[in-house]
Amino acid sequence: MPWAVLFGLLAALLLLLLLTRRRTRRPGEPPLDLGSIPWLGHALEFGKDAASFLTRMKEKHGDIFTVLVGGRYVTVLLDPHSYDTVVWESRTKLDFHAYAVFLMERIFDVQLPHYNPSDEKAKMKPWQHGVLTTCLWVNLVVFGSPCSSSFRFLLRSGYLTLYGVEALPRTHQSQAQDCIHSADVFHTFRQLDLLLPKLARGSLSVGDKDRVSKAKGRLWKLLSPTRLASRAHRSTWLENYLLHLEEMGVSEEMRARALVLQLWATQGNMGPATFWLLLFLLKHPEAMAAVREQLEHTLQRVEQPVSQMTTLSQKVLDSMPVLDSVLNESLRLTAAPFITREVMVDLAMPMADGREFSLRRGDRLLLFPFLSPQKDPDIYTDPEEFKYDRFLNPDGSEKKDFYKDGKRLKNYNMPWGAGHNQCLGRSYAINSIKQFVFLVLVHFDLELTNPDGEIPEFDLSRYGFGLMQPEHDMPIRYRIRP
Ligand code: HEM
Repeated sequence: MPWAVLFGLLAALLLLLLLTRRRTRRPGEPPLDLGSIPWLGHALEFGKDAASFLTRMKEKHGDIFTVLVGGRYVTVLLDPHSYDTVVWESRTKLDFHAYAVFLMERIFDVQLPHYNPSDEKAKMKPWQHGVLTTCLWVNLVVFGSPCSSSFRFLLRSGYLTLYGVEALPRTHQSQAQDCIHSADVFHTFRQLDLLLPKLARGSLSVGDKDRVSKAKGRLWKLLSPTRLASRAHRSTWLENYLLHLEEMGVSEEMRARALVLQLWATQGNMGPATFWLLLFLLKHPEAMAAVREQLEHTLQRVEQPVSQMTTLSQKVLDSMPVLDSVLNESLRLTAAPFITREVMVDLAMPMADGREFSLRRGDRLLLFPFLSPQKDPDIYTDPEEFKYDRFLNPDGSEKKDFYKDGKRLKNYNMPWGAGHNQCLGRSYAINSIKQFVFLVLVHFDLELTNPDGEIPEFDLSRYGFGLMQPEHDMPIRYRIRP
């Protein structure tokens, strides 16, 4: 029998198997929605615009349901009162790392021998975010103007802070070199970052594959441990991480790949977070006025000209409730990570309202806080609107009491995740963003080149990857403040 016919028969047999062996819902399990396409299920709608798809599913099935997505059964939980059960469950039952390892391999080609995420986490603590915050201040000052995009500005400063600078003491020449090198890192990183959703979903075109491979190759060279070895003022974070990789016996090539992965994990969300924050301020003059007023107070309290400052102390950073509220509100509207856990054993999952659902081993569990609590009209009035004081009490302190169904919520805004795997870099990230905004607003007057321009739409393919990114930039005009 010719090979082609044999392959054809095998393929038909496989398809028949797939079509006939469709899963059915067992008693006690969440509603099951397989979609109309065998195996693929809802993969296309999910990949195109996850938020709209999950909203439709929620309207159809309620706040817990299982959908088939590209051969995987994903149980989606959208009741924020029940999130704690998931995020504090033990790793032996609901595991964060299996999915993280899958992405690590698929996106960044990183495979680490004897990889133990808990061990890595323990070794990488403490983050010493105080020291990092001071270093970042210096690097932000080096770049000195918002003329390039906020993403570029923050990534370059963040990169130099964690991965080290050309030389110490810093000279004009070494700073110029830092500018050139970090611009190269940013530019190449961005080429990869733009294709990341397609890369994660395995839907790159031939041309895209070529671009991704070139960007990765270049980044592996730029961040190779040999090249980084000569850099000065490397962070303790980097030193610890390199030591950890060395102890695991990771090859030089694989170490470079791991460093690229870390660049994305530590920097990928910071620029977009700052972009949205500044844009909301520029679009809402009352918010900008309130933030500026608070910065004036801060400056009076510090009693030191900005030009002589070497950092903002943690005490000062912690006493800016208006800016905190603006940041929380801006993250509420734009942070859309998937909180994903692998179901490791058959499990009975209790919901906050007393219901209990059975989860199957091998399925995936997904929380999507962007829909609820963050955009939930039962929790936030006019949830689509930016309200700079949403997280402020009338006395100016931070507002923390939000309710759904008459019950106070513990998780009312989750840009950093929650529970065992909550973002480790949260304090450093918040400090960085606040320092950046402080420096920009103290030194410059800014306005949108087109003040009536609409706020850009989201790039819908990025749901699940952290901060949403805009479809396009928003040009600004600025002048140095007298
Ligand atoms: C705006 C900036 C950032 C946002 C919105 C953000 C958000 C997140 C989220 C949502 C998670 C996953 C939580 C989960 O699935 O349960 C996470 C994990 C993590 N983040 Fe961040 N992150 C940011 C910046 C950073 C920075 C600057 C660092 C390091 C310097 C960092 C280090 C980490 C690490 C190590 C984890 C994994 C924690 C674990 O394994 O348990 N992040 N982050």
